[in-house]
Order: sequence, then structure tokens, then C-alpha cells
Amino acid sequence: MTHPLDHPADPFSIAQAAADDIARLTGVAGHDIAVTLGSGWGKAAELLGETVATIPATEVTGFSKPALEGHVGTIRSLRTPSGRNVLVIGARTHYYEGHGVRRVVHSVRTAAATGAKVMVLTNGAGGIKPAWSAGQPVLISDHLNLTSDSPLEGATFIDMTDLYSARLREVARSVDPDLDEGVYCQFRGPQYETPAEVQMAKTLGGHIVGMSTALEAIAARQSGMEVLGFSLITNLAAGISPSPLSHAEVIEAGRAAEGRISQLLADVVGRI
Ligand code: HPA
Repeated sequence: MTHPLDHPADPFSIAQAAADDIARLTGVAGHDIAVTLGSGWGKAAELLGETVATIPATEVTGFSKPALEGHVGTIRSLRTPSGRNVLVIGARTHYYEGHGVRRVVHSVRTAAATGAKVMVLTNGAGGIKPAWSAGQPVLISDHLNLTSDSPLEGATFIDMTDLYSARLREVARSVDPDLDEGVYCQFRGPQYETPAEVQMAKTLGGHIVGMSTALEAIAARQSGMEVLGFSLITNLAAGISPSPLSHAEVIEAGRAAEGRISQLLADVVGRI
């Protein structure tokens, strides 16, 4: 089967078509803020504001079916108490699915095409700092893109200084002064890291290991959006914790923390 993003056509015009679909299907002409909900963050949508419309992501140009349990395949338009329109993306395409980076960052480019100026990226991830524990949300301060890939095509030289906006991290800390932060390392996956790979990430200056977010953040910056990143530490990374990792435990840690972190996210978005 052919997919629109596999054609040589410009990915930004496909993102514009997706944004037009969203405007038509939600009845909301434009959005101010976009939020991608990763594993563990799914409950946040209800707390962000009043739901104006919920649409299956598969009805929007270029969106693929969710590959993973815990990832809702919906796109919602919400209105915050202060009257901002928030686009909530519950459909993430991961790099490890092997469909290429264009599909991975399509939701981010679509968010930008709806008018969003702020992109909030959330994920579930492994923690390297031994003081962290499962169920703890942390801010992403920077990243190491270990995929050897990029959403930028051609000679597109884009500044990545302050990619994870210091201003927005301050906003987050004004809600929860105890929020710690760290450098997110995106591995290709889908296998979890070996303990040696976690030690490599640590040696390189990483604190969080995961399989999303960095490529999306790069695309968000290319589109001129300000980025805020949150990781839910669902487990201590391989070798930091003595016990083996299981996907079921990752999902369970997300579920246990969901209420608390969703409220945090809603409060932070409310102050952006
Ligand atoms: N590594 C990579 N991705 C993850 C992890 C991890 O330890 N936990 C949840 N997602």
C-alpha cells in the first residue's frame, strides 16, 4: 500500500493537508499549543480543558495506525479555561516502526501547520540518575540524538541551542519546584538498551533513555515552535536497576503515575 509520506512530495504540504483535515473535522480553525501524549500521559487530555472534538487519527492525512498499546490513536481539540485551543495528539509513530523519519515527525509538522507555537512532547522512559524512581516525571533539558537520522532534509542547518526552552522549563518549575531535569537519549529501539549502552549514554552526558522525542523536537524547532519535553521515568534503565525490564511493568508504572503527572501537565499547559 502506498502512503502519502512515501512519495517524493514535500512533507510540509502533506502536513498542511493534515491541518486542513483537523480544522474541518474539529470545527476549530487553529490551535495555539500542541501536546503529544506518550505512555503514561494519556489521562492528561481530560484535565487540560473542555473537549471540543475527538477524531480518530486515521481520518487525518498521513497519520498511521497506532502500533502500540498505551498509545491512543486519537487527535483532540480542547479549550483551556483561559480560552487557548490545544491540539492533543494521542497517536505517535515511532522511529523503530521502520517507516522513516517523515512519518515520525508528521504529527509535529501538522501541529505547526495548525498554528501551534508551542509543542509539548511527553514520553515514558528509563532513568539513569540513581536518585530517580519509577513514576517520577522529569523535564528534558537537552537531548542526544543517537538514531543517526534526522527529520531535516538537504542542507538545512538549524540551531539547536536552547531546543528545550529554558523559559518553558521555568514555567514547569513554577508549578512544581521539585521537578528535576536531564538529557534525553533517543535510541532506535525497539529493544531496550543493554547495560553497556546505558553506561555509554551516561558517559556521554545522558540521564534519560527512550525511543522517541528527539527527532520530533528537531522537527518542532525547524517549524519554529518552542519545545517543552517531559519524561515519565517508568523504570530505572537497564543495569542501573538490577532487575530486567518488561514492557508490562513500563505500562503499569505509567498507569500508576497517570493521575498525578496528568494534573502536572495540565497545570503547566495552563500557565504557558
Ligand atoms: N529504555 C528505552 N525506552 C524506554 C525505557 C527504557 O528503559 N522505559 C520506557 N521506555
